[in-house]
Amino acid sequence: MHHFQYRNNKLHCEGVSVEGLAEKFGTPLYVYSQATLTDHYQKLDKALAPLDHMICFAMKANSNLAVMRVLANQGSGFDLVSGGELQRVIAAGGDPRKCAFAGVGKTEEEIEFALRKGIYTFNAESEPELIRINKVAARLKKVAPVAVRVNPNIDAGTHAKITTGTYENKFGIQFEQVEGIYARASKLKNLRLRGLQMHIGSQLTSVNPYELAVAKVLPMVKKLAAKYKFEFFSIGGGLGIIYKPALASGEEGWWNTSEAKGLLTPDTYAAKLIPLLKPLGLKILVEPGRFIVGNAGILVTRVEYVKRTGKKNFVIVDAAMNDLIRPAFYDSYHEIVPLKRNGASKTIPSDVVGPICESGDFFCKDRPLPKVGEGDYLALLSAGAYGFVMASNYNARAMAAEILVNGKQAAVVRDRQQVKDIWRDEKIATWLK
Ligand code: LLP
Repeated sequence: MHHFQYRNNKLHCEGVSVEGLAEKFGTPLYVYSQATLTDHYQKLDKALAPLDHMICFAMKANSNLAVMRVLANQGSGFDLVSGGELQRVIAAGGDPRKCAFAGVGKTEEEIEFALRKGIYTFNAESEPELIRINKVAARLKKVAPVAVRVNPNIDAGTHAKITTGTYENKFGIQFEQVEGIYARASKLKNLRLRGLQMHIGSQLTSVNPYELAVAKVLPMVKKLAAKYKFEFFSIGGGLGIIYKPALASGEEGWWNTSEAKGLLTPDTYAAKLIPLLKPLGLKILVEPGRFIVGNAGILVTRVEYVKRTGKKNFVIVDAAMNDLIRPAFYDSYHEIVPLKRNGASKTIPSDVVGPICESGDFFCKDRPLPKVGEGDYLALLSAGAYGFVMASNYNARAMAAEILVNGKQAAVVRDRQQVKDIWRDEKIATWLK
């Protein structure tokens, strides 16, 4: 479910006209719906209610402080992957005691900072990392809560760049090595073995890989939990969302199909996993990113030119791959809709492209789209996850502004970057002066 709908043929985010926002704040513009964020959080929370559980929002998907505050207010914890992300949690008013720190390359400084802030767990991804965490904890006279991230070697069947749970990937510790590592870690005095974690990949659209991975890991979790008095088992993130609606006849599109058939919903996920997990008697952590925020955000862009070559209809817009890199990077699909519908059913196969000097700077190719012209606005849907956070200043393009909508209210939650700020931290070497 999400809260982007047409009213009188104008796209609205909750009670606010998106065109009004584009006119007031300019484009490219990210727009987030608070009701969608809370709705997604609550759906998952409710589905997992039979379990003692904690939702740690994977903030890498969207770390805008206001978005994080919305979720922190719901009681969310955070899955993070750097000291910088922990600083963001604190800036957003989140609780470090509900934070899980993942990542293969934690530095000593990051470990020290997270220990001082009292995070819930370090999810260690190698034995040298456990040794390092123990060393930093000893220096600070603290005991560090740790879990091992197990790599269960299960193919999540998703895009190669976002699969994480096979032995081809850098993530986690090989299944066969996990017990030995816990045995050695149990001898390190400044570690507390608090649990075990796994994460097999992102944008999973079927519950099967989760079931396979949980079933494979479960006997080991039981054994280790008894031996080391575990408190939790984390099954990671990865819940997929609808990017491309499979249209049944008579249906209108993305805005009507939030509960499309066969999709991995919180309920199907919970129905399969709760019977496996409940008997463990442990706290279950989940780390959803995209599920919470993906369909809660759109990227609004303005058409600059329409260029017709004999072969192609290029719709050149003011957003580019530096604003939303997913199509260029993963060939991912984002639905593209006009902010104003005119009722015409005629479409033209179009390439929507940005102004960046790369052939990869496109949002879609040969997609049937309504006819548009200079000054029209388009929205790229499902852009709330891994959108703004992956933006760059390539081609000296300033980063987009971000807006949060709540009912009839809208607030700028990130100002549009000023071009001169792009080189604010650069210096010209003295010998060049
Ligand atoms: N937990 C861990 C340890 C992760 O590495 C990730 C994502 C998540 C949770 C959250 O996964 P989610 O629920 O959002 O699927 N940039 C890519 C996705 C990269 C995902 C990285 N890790 C994209 O745009 O599709």
